[in-house]
Amino acid sequence: MQQQVSLKPYNTFGIDANCSRFVRVEEVSQVFDLIGQGVFQNDFLILGGGSNMLLLDDYTGTVVKNNILGFEIVSESDTDVVLEIGAGMNWHETVIRCVNQGWWGIENLSLIPGNCGAAPMQNIGAYGVEIKDCLVDVRFVHLSSGSLEVLKNEDCHFGYRESIFKKELKNKVLITSIRIRLSKKPNRYLEYGAIKDQLEVMSASNPPTIKEISDAVIAIRQSKLPDPNELGNSGSFFKNPVIPNEQATKLKQRFPELRSYPAGEGKTKLAAGWLIEQAGWKGKRIGNTGCHKNQALVLVNYGGATGKEIWDHANRVIESVNEIFGIKLEPEVNIISNEA
Ligand code: EPU
Repeated sequence: MQQQVSLKPYNTFGIDANCSRFVRVEEVSQVFDLIGQGVFQNDFLILGGGSNMLLLDDYTGTVVKNNILGFEIVSESDTDVVLEIGAGMNWHETVIRCVNQGWWGIENLSLIPGNCGAAPMQNIGAYGVEIKDCLVDVRFVHLSSGSLEVLKNEDCHFGYRESIFKKELKNKVLITSIRIRLSKKPNRYLEYGAIKDQLEVMSASNPPTIKEISDAVIAIRQSKLPDPNELGNSGSFFKNPVIPNEQATKLKQRFPELRSYPAGEGKTKLAAGWLIEQAGWKGKRIGNTGCHKNQALVLVNYGGATGKEIWDHANRVIESVNEIFGIKLEPEVNIISNEA
């Protein structure tokens, strides 16, 4: 256990905040030790890749960095393969490993930052695919009982950027590994327009290979989303709002250019990036922060921004979008504060 550790290297926003205590977990047995020491009875924060959080202040609790590794074939047939992957494994490296094996299912999720253990928490998704589409189960230690448990996909209550791990099980479990089922037979998902266009630009084969699809996704992301190693950010800062169809129809009458998609059961999803751009925030910098020039939904740290500065900016954006469109944006990133 280390005292007063800077979390700057551990969050992709690059916020320079300290935590009071810091401990790295590499094996499940260490989680049991920490339970025995009572670590989880006081304030704690389990950290994966740090790619989906904003630290508002120095954290006065214990940060538990989840570094549990592992990549194992659990079962294999002619048609598919089930893998168990440690929570601390880097997501993108895992995707590339699977792409290189020709195992289909997560290639559209290439280049998403963060670790595998955090992936089911917010049901990571991109280009028409979500992790719930291939997830078999999630394995974790229940921090009060100390029991090792397995939760099947259907019991994880997955939704758009939602799961039981953000709700009922929030701060109650430490995810140790996930199991995913991938297909050995091509299983392309190319419906998302930008992928088709990019494959064409790249003169990809017809039909495209798994590697070409992964490369196309990487190229699209690189063209829009800033690299956290160059410009601190946490990907999409807000969720795309999901509203009733009637509200969407009325908005569309006022704003015919509104970007919207069907979201099931009488619901419509709006592109938050479009709303923010229309409100005039795209590429606008205030102090050390602002909305990215290529993707307004991404807030960035131009260097030296504090978490509070970025959060103030987020609130300016929320207020302004609400004033114009009557839509209250909600953060997708976890806001970490001692007061929470
Ligand atoms: N748009 C604008 N202006 C902007 C940004 C977007 O007009 O500044 C418009 C685009 O032209 C497009 C629409 O909004 O018509 C949607 O934009 P995009 O395809 O870039 O996707 P997104 O809805 O902004 C979501 C995810 C991303 C994911 C992409 C691709 C959320 C909150 N974000 O973004 O996920 O990569 O779709 O599937 O759902 C993340 O979660 O961190 C993330 C990057």
